[in-house]
Amino acid sequence: MSTMATHDLLLLAGDGIGPEIMAQTKRVIDWFNDHSAHQFTTIDDLVGGAAYDAHKSPATDEMMAKAGQVDAILFGAVGGDKWTDVPYEARPEAGLLRLRKDLELFANLRPAVCYPALAQASSLKPELVEGLDIMIVRELTGGVYFGEPKEITGQGNEKRAVDTQVYETHEIDRIARVAFGMAKKRGNKVHSSEKHNVMATGILWKEVVTQIHKEDFADVELQHILADNCAMQLVRNPKQFDVIVTDNLFGDILSDVAAMLTGSLGMLASASLGAVGTDGKMKAMYEPVHGSAPDIAGQGKANPIAMIDSFGMCLRYSFDMGKEADLLQQAITKVLENGLRTPDIMQEGMELVSTSGMGDAILAELNNLSS
Ligand code: IPM
Ligand code: MG
Repeated sequence: MSTMATHDLLLLAGDGIGPEIMAQTKRVIDWFNDHSAHQFTTIDDLVGGAAYDAHKSPATDEMMAKAGQVDAILFGAVGGDKWTDVPYEARPEAGLLRLRKDLELFANLRPAVCYPALAQASSLKPELVEGLDIMIVRELTGGVYFGEPKEITGQGNEKRAVDTQVYETHEIDRIARVAFGMAKKRGNKVHSSEKHNVMATGILWKEVVTQIHKEDFADVELQHILADNCAMQLVRNPKQFDVIVTDNLFGDILSDVAAMLTGSLGMLASASLGAVGTDGKMKAMYEPVHGSAPDIAGQGKANPIAMIDSFGMCLRYSFDMGKEADLLQQAITKVLENGLRTPDIMQEGMELVSTSGMGDAILAELNNLSS
């Protein structure tokens, strides 16, 4: 008798297009419940502006308690103009930052992969992006996002604002190890990006990465690159990169650049991972790189691929279901090859589909591929 592996997922759809793309992802989860030896149970909860509206908090303690218990979290998107006037600590984004910080999800993996069918949709020449496969490893729980002090003081027309960039050795050490480990399974090359020419944290970053490399990963090719140069090289010749490891703020910026190379922000998934605990479990949250896009919310225009592919990363990294993740990737690739497009990636001669239309097509392809 075979035993079914069961996994608990917390679904945090959030704001804007979040609920629409999560609804399509749920259909994919159900499909894997019917077609694999794994069983997913899902619970939904509120986060971001939606949680603020209901509870005056973008991430309640009750939700955080669930987040700490489940096997993985799927996160949609948060934010929108509706909440511009809520207190800074209670803004929708604070919900996302609390999840990252409290669960210690320090390693943010942001793959930028160009689907062959979409090479034409990139703002760069197709030959520059065809076959592009970059992994950005962004430090996610430190740096200027969380450093103290973080405040605005003074009054009237002469105020003073401070953000603080802090990194400690252990924070750089653990993210460097994730990056080198990734590189070994990919192209064996790491670019470490900081600004040691102007920042003390950059000097320490470079020192620690160099040390870890020398001690434990000397067989991986390592290059140090200043963050501004990295941004420039990403649009000049993106295929020179394999893994890029960088801090929280540079990672935020560089990953948007890398994402756009692939044609649309609507295509890119991400994983935010913590350390493996004493119980053998790894805390993990999966989310699309794009935001809540309130301007198109509720109109069936959102591209659900990044959210669905985030579930694919969840299969791969949380549940060791590489075969199933590959199948999902194949289904997405096939749907794009067949010419189906949501508005963000629409091109002449292709067939325009809605958010749920894209979900239908991916499910149909999953059925095809597995029959
Ligand atoms: C991202 C987003 C977030 C960030 C925002 C929504 C706080 O831009 O995940 O890249 O800055 O990290
Ligand atoms: Mg960002």
